[in-house]
Amino acid sequence: MFIKPRMRSCSGSKTAKIVIGQFTERGSDSPVVSTQPIWPRFDSKWMWMDKEGRIQPRVTLFDGLFRPNNPYLATLDSTYRTLALRMRDAQCDNCHVPNNPMPMRRLVLMHTPAHAAGEIARLMTAVREDKMPLDDTGAEQPLEPAFKRALLESGAAFEESVKAAKDWEAAHRD
Ligand code: HEC
Repeated sequence: MFIKPRMRSCSGSKTAKIVIGQFTERGSDSPVVSTQPIWPRFDSKWMWMDKEGRIQPRVTLFDGLFRPNNPYLATLDSTYRTLALRMRDAQCDNCHVPNNPMPMRRLVLMHTPAHAAGEIARLMTAVREDKMPLDDTGAEQPLEPAFKRALLESGAAFEESVKAAKDWEAAHRD
């Protein structure tokens, strides 16, 4: 790659500093254009650590909803992730998204941890009673049994963790 560092414009002659990337097959000690390494150099740490040596970014899925020392955070995190995947399999996010394509009078969002925690009881009822999903015309469209089972199983596990986490918060209110 070659970029002329001088540019000519109508108003006369100008110079500019241009940063370029180059690739050479001619060996490490004969660069085509002399270069300076970019700093800082890779420090061999693949993961981002904070000053205290903790891996960042830390999991913040339920920040604000539960206290950081709630012992159910890890279970909540894993059960939520499984449920979110099952909802994706069952196409719930075709309609339950912020731009409300269907549209619903009361937009029900379930794809953030806090939303899912708030709607889990309703979600379980809707799936159990075959009220969801709908087809394009708004008619109820039964879920395939495998999807339904997977949703109910992962939903129940998540619902249980939400309950356990809430109970713990209630018992440890200062
Ligand atoms: C084709 C669009 C569409 C799809 C796909 C869809 N929904 Fe819905 N959903 C709606 C609409 C529209 C409403 C509001 C109207 C109603 O209550 O019937 C709704 C309402 C809901 C409600 C609230 C019911 C209540 O008690 O107020 C829940 C919970 C829900 N959906 C869960 C789901 C789940 C879980 C899935 C995936 C298995 C899903 N939906 C898939 C369109 C959809």
